Amino acid sequence: MALNIMFRYPSWTVLVRKLTAIAREELEHFEQVNQWLERRNIALAPLNAPPYGKRLKALLRHQEPDRGLDFLLISSLIEARSHERLGLLGEHCPDRELAAFYRGLMASEARHYGVYWLLADTYFDRDIVQSRLEELAIAESEILSTLHPEPRIHS
Ligand SMILES: [Fe+2]
Repeated sequence: MALNIMFRYPSWTVLVRKLTAIAREELEHFEQVNQWLERRNIALAPLNAPPYGKRLKALLRHQEPDRGLDFLLISSLIEARSHERLGLLGEHCPDRELAAFYRGLMASEARHYGVYWLLADTYFDRDIVQSRLEELAIAESEILSTLHPEPRIHS
């Protein structure tokens, strides 16, 4: 999402700077997850995506600047949900080392949520940001009210 957004809005200087940092951090996390899997001899395999991302993407409005705001707010919701889910894993995972890893990721996702929210607040009027975030959050909770049969961080 960070890469996608920064390449859509390359002239938004603050956005590009902040999202470059997020993209780098997400890639580091991907590398760390792969290292965990390698240590346990588990090959990374493709998984069927839950409907969460697809249904959130369907909420993106088509006209600019609305679309830009929606990209930022949907990303912030995804990060907030990652924060919540990784927090639950960090609290309940019986493997202490893995639980600590999840808690580290959780802290990053909370920061990422904040970055997307601040970017929305930087480029858009706060009242518009708040009311659209509320609409999207309601839609997101409806998406999550149907459980995907295969558990995922976002399902
Ligand atoms: Fe993130």
